[in-house]
Amino acid sequence: MAALDTIVAAEPEAFAEFIAGQETKGLLRFLTCGSVDDGKSTLIGRLLYDSKLLFEDQLASLKKDSAKHGTVGEDIDFALLVDGLEAEREQGITIDVAYRFFATEARKFIVADTPGHEQYTRNMATGASTADLAVLLVDARHGIQAQTRRHAFIASLLGIRNVVLAVNKIDLVEFSQDRFEEIRDEFSHFAASFDFDSLVAVPISARFGDNVTKRSENTPWYSGPTLIEHLETVEVADDLDRRPFRMSVQWVNRPNLDFRGYSGTIASGVVRPGDEVVVAESGKTSRIERIVTMDGDLDEGHAGEAVTLTLTDEIDISRGDIIATAASRPEVSDQFAAHIIWMTDKSLYPGRPYLLKSGSRTVTATVSELKHRIDINSFEHLAAKKLDLNEVAFCNLSLSAPIAFDPYETNHDTGSFILIDRLTNATVAAGMIWFGLRRATNIHWQALDVDKNARAALKGQKPAVLWFTGLSGSGKSTVANAVERKLLTAGNHTYLLDGDNVRHGLNRDLGFTDADRVENIRRVAETAKLFVDSGTIVLVSFISPFKSERRMARELVEEGEFVEVFVDTPLAECQRRDPKGLYQKAAEGKIKNFTGIDSPYEAPENAEIRLDTTGADPEALADTIIEELKARGIIS
Ligand code: ADX
Repeated sequence: MAALDTIVAAEPEAFAEFIAGQETKGLLRFLTCGSVDDGKSTLIGRLLYDSKLLFEDQLASLKKDSAKHGTVGEDIDFALLVDGLEAEREQGITIDVAYRFFATEARKFIVADTPGHEQYTRNMATGASTADLAVLLVDARHGIQAQTRRHAFIASLLGIRNVVLAVNKIDLVEFSQDRFEEIRDEFSHFAASFDFDSLVAVPISARFGDNVTKRSENTPWYSGPTLIEHLETVEVADDLDRRPFRMSVQWVNRPNLDFRGYSGTIASGVVRPGDEVVVAESGKTSRIERIVTMDGDLDEGHAGEAVTLTLTDEIDISRGDIIATAASRPEVSDQFAAHIIWMTDKSLYPGRPYLLKSGSRTVTATVSELKHRIDINSFEHLAAKKLDLNEVAFCNLSLSAPIAFDPYETNHDTGSFILIDRLTNATVAAGMIWFGLRRATNIHWQALDVDKNARAALKGQKPAVLWFTGLSGSGKSTVANAVERKLLTAGNHTYLLDGDNVRHGLNRDLGFTDADRVENIRRVAETAKLFVDSGTIVLVSFISPFKSERRMARELVEEGEFVEVFVDTPLAECQRRDPKGLYQKAAEGKIKNFTGIDSPYEAPENAEIRLDTTGADPEALADTIIEELKARGIIS
């Protein structure tokens, strides 16, 4: 068997070895969560230590480290065993999800150690999706915290059915039965609505070992199980095999013309040669021919196994498709309702495009409607225009292409997704799908006889968007106005969408919060697209401060149709001009969220045209743009 060790996901071989050596025992996956000081690392260290899987050399180095970094005097600091990363030790916090394993006579365990620090809820969401049980730690002195509630709520949202409330540091409250019961009752009351299958509270001292693996003499009033007894015996429904067969295709394996296999990890169900399967998205059916693995063909493939399937028919399957049992086909939609947990500092705005990754499939997605945010203390549904770090919401999402999925309730694997920021590539949300929305799938694109090319041909031009972006007072509208006049004189068909004007009509309901600006630009980008479709050259003059939305506007039209004009006039010059007296008002605090003052402007890096209007003649600048349009073949 592999040595007891800190296993992170990056060490699959050691992990596989451990699992192989333990195959005869049942497996419990659990996660621990609690605040930084609740003693989580100490508890895990204690479990590992008491299960006697520590090697002598590890013990020796632990003793040495305890003396150097420890916070518990002469004793062994179990937290050091777990807080493996140097950075964590230095800061005294745990920062990443790490998977650790240990075993007792009765069971083997995989612990996802998820950090307690507020901003690390993201790691809990990632570690939790595969856990059967959550151990929530509280410090007996402090009782239930906001954090404890959040973790319980997220655990329930993620479908974890079993919870242990570990009331730690019971030694520091004189092993008080009253204190323990007070905390237990407060939690049971709070958690009642979650309907967990099991909810057990245990008074423990991770540091001294009370009720962790050994029954404590200090708590004669406690008759329940020790923590490890409970973990060894708790029944968890491990019925992945009994669910319908699902496998997301990670890659199409085609080493030569004679072999075509589909590789992936079985998410749920059992599969056998001869089974009828369906490609979830296309609905094409076939039968399983072989289940190929590194160690030869299998008679049966089970959930969790990495396999390559071959089929009896040549059907079109590509990476990201889900192969499913034909008897129970996943849903397919480009719109669904889901819970999301927002996990980053930058707020979520409805209408802003993100990448959505589910299984091996990635599409573009926007939150089309934030239905409500959920207050983690009262579970009240609150109205929200945006989501901030750690907030949870129920929302509708709209995707650039349909995907196959199951409701999260029936399948955690095919029912979950993450959202990724398109500019930074960071994971920004975890999502759980509730149901597909069929509404939109019934609206088909109406084919029209007269198309963009016909309209443009009549006007004798190529349609385009000239997107002017820059600070208020930078001269966008002045230059755009001059360009439009020149285009018109030359016989072109144009339209100018100007921020101030559009805000009097179409966008009169929007203000200047970040959320409203996102929506402002989304609407104007869609409008610009319609003008392009009409064969027109449309000039758009909006501050449009965010990269995300400018990129969205660009992607709405065809390659070469979008020309970004960055009117790069320095802030100081805009303030000096102050044509509408708004900078003055902003400086006096009379206008809030003013771009460049207390609201950000994200400058373009690769604009097609960049202008500095300082001391320049607008007519001359307009001429440069006209020349550029000629060079690009937009006008002749
Ligand atoms: S955007 O940020 O959403 O693109 P938009 O171009 O529509 O802004 O509107 C900007 C114009 O609104 C400015 O030129 C200015 O006249 C006016 N305005 C009023 N309040 C603000 C504000 N807080 N920030 C920026 N512009 C404002």
